[in-house]
Amino acid sequence: MAEESRHFETLAAELIQGLETDLSKKEFYTALLSARDPMSKQGYSKSDIRKELKSLTRSGGDTMSVTIASTLHWLSIDREWQDSVAQEVRDNFSAYEDIVPGEKLDNCTRLFQVINESLRLDSPILGCPWRLLTEDVIIDGHLVPRGYEVGVCHYAMHRSAKHFDQPSRFDPRRFPDTRGLQPPQGPGGFYPFSLGRRACPAKELVERALTVCLARTIWLAKVRLALVNEPSPLASNGEEHDGTSYELRDCFTAEKFGPVLEFQRRESTRLPWE
Ligand code: HEM
Repeated sequence: MAEESRHFETLAAELIQGLETDLSKKEFYTALLSARDPMSKQGYSKSDIRKELKSLTRSGGDTMSVTIASTLHWLSIDREWQDSVAQEVRDNFSAYEDIVPGEKLDNCTRLFQVINESLRLDSPILGCPWRLLTEDVIIDGHLVPRGYEVGVCHYAMHRSAKHFDQPSRFDPRRFPDTRGLQPPQGPGGFYPFSLGRRACPAKELVERALTVCLARTIWLAKVRLALVNEPSPLASNGEEHDGTSYELRDCFTAEKFGPVLEFQRRESTRLPWE
């Protein structure tokens, strides 16, 4: 982990150095550098911005890769849903490069259904985002004193039989006619981006990035479980493991362990650079 962190520091330093050589570029970093607080007229220091960039990259990396992998995993197991989503994407888009954010993609309701169901089953923030109480509060009729930490475990909430029938089953029909992630009209007990002031500020960005990435992948290729899969190293919770389950380990975000997937390009697809 320390080595990974050092590698990340080096990458971030190189990226920032590249951007500093040309501040006229319209990049996130250059926008932050020129931002001023309207009251104090103060800007951010470079060290503040570096920390911000690190935190954004960390919050955005694992969460996105877990969700992409999880959605493709469930589609590889449920061929009916895979075919149905592929049909929807191909009905709306005739070329790979046409798949961009906009009304057509927003209308791909089956795509949103499968992403939401994957976010429910494999929430990339799996555990409890803890909150320190600064005053006594009553929660569900119990007094919890100041100084205690409280949290709601996303994994437990998303797989609770109180909220979901057969909670461990992949069933995107739980999100009928969905346009968007964590839809307000969705089932109770589904909050992958959390709620309130500390909820994920990137939900709209995530929505666009995930739908473009997954729609393009499904437009281009069929996906299935690779034959090489072996039971996950996390086979510890008493469930049966046949090499096909998608295992996650809580590390504030989530670390994923297979299974490996295979992609087969669909006939008569063309990429813009071919
Ligand atoms: C599927 C993708 C994602 C999911 C499910 C997700 C989920 C969440 C959740 C549940 C939190 C709240 C954590 C807490 O309560 O402490 C959070 C916070 C945050 N997320 Fe995301 N996130 C995703 C992607 C991203 C991306 C791509 C970015 C940045 C580019 C991002 C940036 C942040 C930041 C900066 C916070 C901290 C907000 C704060 O503490 O005020 N997230 N995210």
